[in-house]
Formats: sequence, structure tokens, C-alpha cells
Amino acid sequence: MANTETIKVGVLFSETGVMSAIESSQLYGTLFAIREINEAGGIGGRELVPIHHDPASDPAKYRMFAERLILAEDVQVIFGCYMSSARKAVLPIVERCNRLLFYATLYEGFEFSDNVIYTGAAPNQNSVQLADFMTSNFGARVYLVGSNYIYPYESNRIMSDLVSQYRGGVKLGERYVRLGATEDDFAAIVEDIRAARPDFIFSTVVGDATRHFYRAYARAGLDPASMPIASLTTSEVEVAQMGTDVAEGHFTAAPYFRSIDSAGNLACLEKFGRMFGSETIPNASWEAAYFQVHLFAQAMRAAGSPELETLMPELLRCELDAPQGRVKIDPSTHHTYLNPRIGRVNGEGQFDVVWQAVAPVRPDPYLVAHTLGDWMGSTMSWSSE
Ligand code: ACM
Repeated sequence: MANTETIKVGVLFSETGVMSAIESSQLYGTLFAIREINEAGGIGGRELVPIHHDPASDPAKYRMFAERLILAEDVQVIFGCYMSSARKAVLPIVERCNRLLFYATLYEGFEFSDNVIYTGAAPNQNSVQLADFMTSNFGARVYLVGSNYIYPYESNRIMSDLVSQYRGGVKLGERYVRLGATEDDFAAIVEDIRAARPDFIFSTVVGDATRHFYRAYARAGLDPASMPIASLTTSEVEVAQMGTDVAEGHFTAAPYFRSIDSAGNLACLEKFGRMFGSETIPNASWEAAYFQVHLFAQAMRAAGSPELETLMPELLRCELDAPQGRVKIDPSTHHTYLNPRIGRVNGEGQFDVVWQAVAPVRPDPYLVAHTLGDWMGSTMSWSSE
């Protein structure tokens, strides 16, 4: 007889706290994929059932809920986490219990786990391209501003290294703010930026504080045409929070922007709108949260079981056409081949793609390659799209 038992999956994205806007988008990306899969008959007739908890943007609560999902609710797989501090909190639990975490957020790299699949960008898929673009177009004197936790510290270190090693650049300042920072917390930093006159600012500020930073910048009268902010985390969601007038002219590097004008992306956006209305704004973290559930479903169909030993060999063979383009898991790193792009915010609050890779870029989470050329190679070209 066919197995019709439901497949429970854990979902850990925050709907409250400072990360709620971006993580809600990941929640909806996940639920969208689950609904598509179930409406198409499930996985071999088995329905996917999400068990969602709201960790309230607090790493300790991610750990607590991961434990509950695994020990009390018996899930094999968890989709979740945005901040690297949340992933680091969940990692020991999934490793100890031999379960699987799908992580859909760009991060600082330098990590591998047998129990994690990483579908967001590693530094060689966003920071390297952004460093090259910003230094070529604006100059190599950079000012670093970040939120006070592991991703900003590590990501700023990488950007600082890229700029100084490959473009002879200098770091003019490096400042950190608390996660719940307000516009006032940025006032002195913006004045320091004005005095230092960098060629560009690299922002690793995340969550709700992002809008306060860009607003403080705009209020001080600084001009994106001559001293733009470049980021990996300022997506369409944060742009909507801060307002288009404040965001216009600034840059973000990501594998996906809502504005991608491909048949696949347009069809996906249309379907998402039909199913979920305007619950959230599609962005790179939403897209990775969406396609990683489809990667899981593909592997699960072949494996017949969500248990790690059975699922992982299939998962490491998976590839599919995501809204960003072709993606596949790299078996040696558990990270994903992605399609790097750089966007500049336009007057509609969307990103104009000013540069994109010509083919998916292999993840190199430990930055093993040693030159910009090794990372960029022949996979990249300028685009006037
Ligand atoms: C992040 O904390 N990985 C954005």
C-alpha cells in the first residue's frame, strides 16, 4: 500500500523582533513552495506539513525551538534562520541529533557542516563581485558600518581584505551598532563618514536598523551619486521600510532581485501574488527560502525518506531552475552554485541590475582561491541590462 503519511518539516523564521520583516519574507517563500508541492499532489502522494515557531529574532529561542522541533515534534528537516548568530545557535543541535538544516541566507562563509545545506550566497558569490564593482567605479577607500554580531564583523573583514589586497584600498573607518539601533545611533557615525570622505560605504547593518542608517545618511545630505552605500543585506524589503527617496542610488549584491525580467521569475511572482497577495516583498532571501524547499522535495522524491543518510546523497545531486536561474548543490561544500548580480535602487524602489555573472558561480565558502581573477574568471561579464 502507498505510504500516505504526512511529512512534517520544521520552519524557524521570526515574525516578531528586529528581523521580522526580512524573516517573514523567508517564511512566506517557504510556505509558498510547500503549498505548490502539496497542490501538485505532495511528495509521492505525501503532504508536507510545516511546523512553524516564531523565535522572535533571539538566537537563544532558535536553539530552544530547534530542540523542540527535533526532540518533541520529531522533524528530520528544519528550514530556517537569517542571522548567523541564529544559525550558530542551532548548529550544535542539528549536529548532535543528526538532522538537517536548510539555511537560505547570505553569510560570511568559513563554515561547513554535514548537517547543513547552504542556499544563500557565500562571500565569493557577492562580496568579491561587489568589491570589484565598487572599487572600479567609485574608488577603493571604504568605510565599514555593521550591526554588532558575527556576520558583520566577518563580512567587513572580508571586504576590507578584498579592497586592500586587490585594489590597494584603505579602510577609513569601522563602526558597529546594536541590533535595535535607531536613527540617533547613526548620527555620529554619519558625521564621521562625512569627515572621512570614503569612496563608498559598505553596510553590514541588518534588519530594522537598516532603514535608520540610510535615513540618517539621507538626513545628513550625503549623496549616493558620489559616496554610495553598498550592501549584501539591503533587499527590496529594507528598501520598502526606508522609502524609495532614501534608498535610490545605493547598491546591493545578491543572486536574485525581484526585478529580474525572465519568464521563470515573472511566472513565479505572478503565482506568489495569486496565492499570498502582498503579504511580503520578494527578495533574495525569499527566493532562496523558496527554491530550497523545492530542492528538498526533489531529493525526497528520489530518496523516499527525509532521514539524513538517505536524503543527503540525493540532495547533493539536485539542481533546478530557480527564479534567479539555474542552481545546484556543490557536493564538496554543501553550498549552492548561484548567479551573482549587482543592483542599484531605482525610483520605483526596485533594483536595476547593473552587472551580472554569465553563468552560475561555484561556491568557495573558505575563499580558497587567492586572486580576484580566480573567483571571477570567465564566468563574469559586464551587463547593460
Ligand atoms: C547573516 O547574518 N548571515 C546576514
